[in-house]
Amino acid sequence: MSEQFASAFTHLECSACHERYDPQRLHNVCPACGKPLLARYDLEKAASSLTRESLQQRPPGLWRYWEVLPVQDRSAAINLGEGGTPLLCAPRLGDRLAMPNTFIKDETSNPTGSFKARGLCLAVSRAYELGAKEIAIPSAGNAAGAMSAYAAAVGMPAHVFMPVDTPPAFAVECRTLGAEVTLIQGLITDCGAEVKAGVQTHGWFDVSTLKEPYRLEGKKTMGYELAEQLDWNLPDVIIYPTGGGTGLVGMWKAFAEMEAMGLIGPQRPRMVSVQSDGCAPIVRAYQEGSEHAEVWQNAATIASGLRVPAAIGDFLMLEAIRDSGGTAIAVSDEEMMRYADVLGSTTGIFSSPEGAACLAAQVHLLEAGWLRPDDVVVNFITGTGLKYTHLWQS
Ligand SMILES: Cc1ncc(COP(=O)(O)O)c(C=O)c1O
Repeated sequence: MSEQFASAFTHLECSACHERYDPQRLHNVCPACGKPLLARYDLEKAASSLTRESLQQRPPGLWRYWEVLPVQDRSAAINLGEGGTPLLCAPRLGDRLAMPNTFIKDETSNPTGSFKARGLCLAVSRAYELGAKEIAIPSAGNAAGAMSAYAAAVGMPAHVFMPVDTPPAFAVECRTLGAEVTLIQGLITDCGAEVKAGVQTHGWFDVSTLKEPYRLEGKKTMGYELAEQLDWNLPDVIIYPTGGGTGLVGMWKAFAEMEAMGLIGPQRPRMVSVQSDGCAPIVRAYQEGSEHAEVWQNAATIASGLRVPAAIGDFLMLEAIRDSGGTAIAVSDEEMMRYADVLGSTTGIFSSPEGAACLAAQVHLLEAGWLRPDDVVVNFITGTGLKYTHLWQS
């Protein structure tokens, strides 16, 4: 890609108190109020080169949106082939669900098999660019695999903390990719506490969801891609399996940026957050009309990526859901397994339970009359089922 496309990244801004921070230093959350920091760009400058026409000339993958990504030095941009995933129309699935305009954004084809590659690609690239020596993550599995891959690519020591009952394939993957893996008796929140201790003791850089500002920038590229793939229209509805919520919040940010750059108009999809009925803090907060979500006690679900009892970006997710006219819905583990089979046998995509949760939600929302049969719906199939095969064996 030609050097004429410079990043238009200008600064970091707190999502809550709006304090601004120096973009050339490593940051986690806002030092003033503890909330997530967001990357801001000179969108007028970005719009001068990031046009519909210029995009047609660029290679596929997420780095094509260079102007609205935070990495400054091209040699720091790690490329394992992330992004550029297919948006598939799924006629047999559409028939089965009685919704002919059902689409699948198939994120399983990312490096390490999930959409987590997008976020960790940006987080590790930027940490590398800014001189981080070692990185650490608390993870339900897929994020750890992705971090390990990007860290391996630049030879950065990586430390993973996962709940002991995370599907075994994830620990195998991370170790094989060179990371140090510690299994923790507890939930992802307990793993987060271990990372925090490692940061204090060893000076690791923490790349936890939304406690690190650039994972969001990687995930937002799903929104850019979707618009491009739909010829700069957005669907009526996006259904997204929600844990920490970076994808949901990231796409919402992408739509605002695209509108500011004149790439799309004001129309927005209704954003649907899907959780497991064994861990649904965002659904409960949405239903109660709360701005923040309370911690979900005794979180339990086979969808390890959705077992997030508390999320630092809860208020950002709830804002996106409400502002879009969307909703939040919980589905059962049994439904996730059932719809993984439906998805697989009608589309050829082998999904993890998290992705399959979208279809279960779609069916409920159609039955409830919240969806119309002719709505254009995009389901995010966020990760491959290949790391969860034990769920089909019992
Ligand atoms: C396959 C899969 N889908 C969805 C999620 C939830 O993603 P987010 O934390 O961005 O809400 C995860 C998180 O681990 C995941 O692994």
